[in-house]
Amino acid sequence: MSSYRPLESRLAGTSRATADNRTPCTGRLGTPRVFLMATDDVSKAYSSPTFDAEALLGTVISAEDPDRVLIEPWATGVDGVILDVGSGTGRWTGHLASLGHQIEGLEPATRLVELARQTHPSVTFHHGTITDLSDSPKRWAGLLAWYSLIHMGPGELPDALVALRMAVEDGGGLLMSFFSGPSLEPMYHPVATAYRWPLPELAQALETAGFQVTSSHWDPRFPHAYLTAEASKQNLA
Ligand SMILES: C[S@@+](CC[C@H](N)C(=O)[O-])C[C@H]1O[C@@H](n2cnc3c(N)ncnc32)[C@H](O)[C@@H]1O
Repeated sequence: MSSYRPLESRLAGTSRATADNRTPCTGRLGTPRVFLMATDDVSKAYSSPTFDAEALLGTVISAEDPDRVLIEPWATGVDGVILDVGSGTGRWTGHLASLGHQIEGLEPATRLVELARQTHPSVTFHHGTITDLSDSPKRWAGLLAWYSLIHMGPGELPDALVALRMAVEDGGGLLMSFFSGPSLEPMYHPVATAYRWPLPELAQALETAGFQVTSSHWDPRFPHAYLTAEASKQNLA
């Protein structure tokens, strides 16, 4: 008999870190204070009523959204079901579903997953974290991780990438956006501390987890970056 439990029930069993676990990080005078946060604290921050998800993320994708030219062609190239990892309000999940793609969402923040289900009732949204994917028997053909790994530093990202590799079919695709910079360091983010990941370090972490980076883009004038990767045929995880 499989030991698999739905993401929802496994999430209920996860331990919850407290705000006291935050480690202050030295910042320059005059810059916002940066705190290193546990994953559960990140979920709580996204669930907080003080985070106005509707205003800051939006619940749907506008016709002018510049990221459409990246995300839509990538989704068209995926042959099978996509998992939108860290789907937030479900704006990309719902948008890609409306274009005819097979897609599901995964989101740990309770308030956001409820909002996503209300806004996009025909789409499946799993309530859970990337870690919960590790023992899921299901595999997806493609993974969209649009700014959803940004809160993970070197202590968390490698394991999260291994969990993602286990959740995607051999040869499956990954499209992820993130913040980049010349050195791996925490940075201020209005919801929770984020990290800048230099492309070489991130590519190395992906390869160690069993992905092959197929394209990447970062303009050093801005923090925003994205890459595509393919799940290597031989699962190294
Ligand atoms: C910046 S928001 C982006 C949301 C969405 N991808 C979008 O583009 O609108 C980051 C999202 O990642 C989610 N997230 C953070 N840590 C996660 C984890 N360990 N597993 C899954 N999702 C996570 C957050 O709850 C949040 O919804």
